[in-house]
Amino acid sequence: MPVSSRSIVGRSARVDVDGVDFSAFESAPLPTETLRCLRYMCDVESHTICYLREILATSAHRDPEITAFLACWNYEEFWHGEVLGQILELHRQPGAKESAHNLRRERKWLDELRLLTFNIGSLIADDFVAIQMCWGAINELTAQAAYSRMIAKAQHPVLSEVVRRIMKQEGRHLDFYEGQARSRLADSRRAQYLARLALTKFWAPVGSGVVADSEVAHMAAYLFADEDGLAAAQRVDRKFSRLPGLQGLSLLENAARKGASLATS
Ligand SMILES: [Fe+2]
Ligand SMILES: [Fe+2]
Repeated sequence: MPVSSRSIVGRSARVDVDGVDFSAFESAPLPTETLRCLRYMCDVESHTICYLREILATSAHRDPEITAFLACWNYEEFWHGEVLGQILELHRQPGAKESAHNLRRERKWLDELRLLTFNIGSLIADDFVAIQMCWGAINELTAQAAYSRMIAKAQHPVLSEVVRRIMKQEGRHLDFYEGQARSRLADSRRAQYLARLALTKFWAPVGSGVVADSEVAHMAAYLFADEDGLAAAQRVDRKFSRLPGLQGLSLLENAARKGASLATS
């Protein structure tokens, strides 16, 4: 049984940063590499509403269980972007809104083309929603692993506290996507085949095609290219591969290795 949206809707809230001492970043600022990664995470979180636009262009919008989840998911991801933007502003960098404005300004045709692929994909493949739920699951798994790695790399107590609070919400997002993906894949061999094919051919870390390739490569190299990072990527792959028909995929490990080689080339 997929996780009911009710368990997410009932608990959905702006990420709680009460009691977090943001002024600590003034006396102990984050290093440049962590800030660059934080910029990536902030931009991707803030882009969620654009991803939502694409998801709703498909038959997913006909499923009230999914739309209830998406309403809350989008709200929570929005606040993740805002909180990360607040930290960036304390380092004299653009906040979430300013960065999102810059990012979206040049994307007019690209966004419309992407939207078209979702429209067409949904029209020709009944199983498109199953594929979307798989995408959501691997992206939430990746986000959780990325935040966990960020805590380990930065070793900054206040960043760690903020990120841990964000991760709690990412965990609930993951539960929903994973439950939906599992149930839809279990119901259809065709969905398993199509999801496997689409993931193998097209999956890349969330943010790819939105932020610059150099930033995707930096994130992958910074968080996942060392020994601990690769182990984290392999854990993500192992967990994701437990979904029906998706055994043996190494999506994040492959992306980490590719990102690391691009970042050093
Ligand atoms: Fe998030
Ligand atoms: Fe999430």
